[in-house]
Amino acid sequence: MTTEKIPVILDCDPGHDDAIMLMLAFGSGRFDVKAVTTSAGNQTQEKTLRNALNILSLIGANVPVHRGCDKPMFRDLIIADHVHGATGLDGPEFPPEPALNPHPVPAVQAIADILTNSPEKITIVPTGPLTNIAVFLLAYPHLKSKIERISLMGGGISRGNITPAAEFNIFVDPEAAAVVFESGIPITMCGLDVTHKALVFEEDIQRFRNMGNQTGKVTAALMDFFSIYYRQERPELNGGAALHDPCALACLIHPEIFHGKNCFVRIETQGRYTTGSTDVDFFNALKQPPNAHVIYDIDREAFLKLLYNSLKTLP
Ligand code: RIB
Ligand code: CA
Repeated sequence: MTTEKIPVILDCDPGHDDAIMLMLAFGSGRFDVKAVTTSAGNQTQEKTLRNALNILSLIGANVPVHRGCDKPMFRDLIIADHVHGATGLDGPEFPPEPALNPHPVPAVQAIADILTNSPEKITIVPTGPLTNIAVFLLAYPHLKSKIERISLMGGGISRGNITPAAEFNIFVDPEAAAVVFESGIPITMCGLDVTHKALVFEEDIQRFRNMGNQTGKVTAALMDFFSIYYRQERPELNGGAALHDPCALACLIHPEIFHGKNCFVRIETQGRYTTGSTDVDFFNALKQPPNAHVIYDIDREAFLKLLYNSLKTLP
């Protein structure tokens, strides 16, 4: 197994599961994180930026954090405070003012600067709405060739979570998702089919709580809060909470614990009931060339072991 670090840009909307994705990124030791950019989604941009700064400060990560777009390209912002709370990271206590400050360069410009100056291709890992990535691709099309892959959390083959058809990240900015899926850049799509199997239960949370470091305590508090919504609204998951966002990162370093299929995926932007859905051509009915590797299964135990071992290395 290679120990070479994968150069990445993490675009996220912390958000409880985004926060755990950030911990995995730095705790695993497998990523060269060039920058963190924040999207508006789980909460407003002001709050997701603050949350990203607080989490990175907690884990002692020294990385530039760039503020992203305040709203979707053409639509009003909707947030997920019903899941993530008024702060976007309810549960653990964080300082009102983070110890870290955001970098003055805005996210879209920062992505362009990093790709322009990088001698190697960069993998982009979006785990929120795709607004920043779409605006970047529209503004800097010549830099597409510097992107190795986009490994995103979003969409789903068979169902939604914010509407019957649409998953939240895609639903917030469907036009942005269409720009990304039509870009021709290699895409890995971790949708609800796999993330609803990436579950943590009470006994898993206790192991994080007893990890012996501050990161474990905060992670357990995040999972406790995140579980409230899932236990109330997702009885089908039998008390488990879905760790959506870490999947988009974990599949880059441990593809063997995931299972997927290359499919043609298009985004519905004008459906009467289905706007924001990812129309996954799982059985190749359209005979179109695949534009995404759609992941739909996971070895949950191996995933949790990776998370635990990665977070245990943090303060
Ligand atoms: O639908 C789940 C996704 O929406 C996750 O990325 C979660 O953080 C929210 O952004
Ligand atoms: Ca997210």
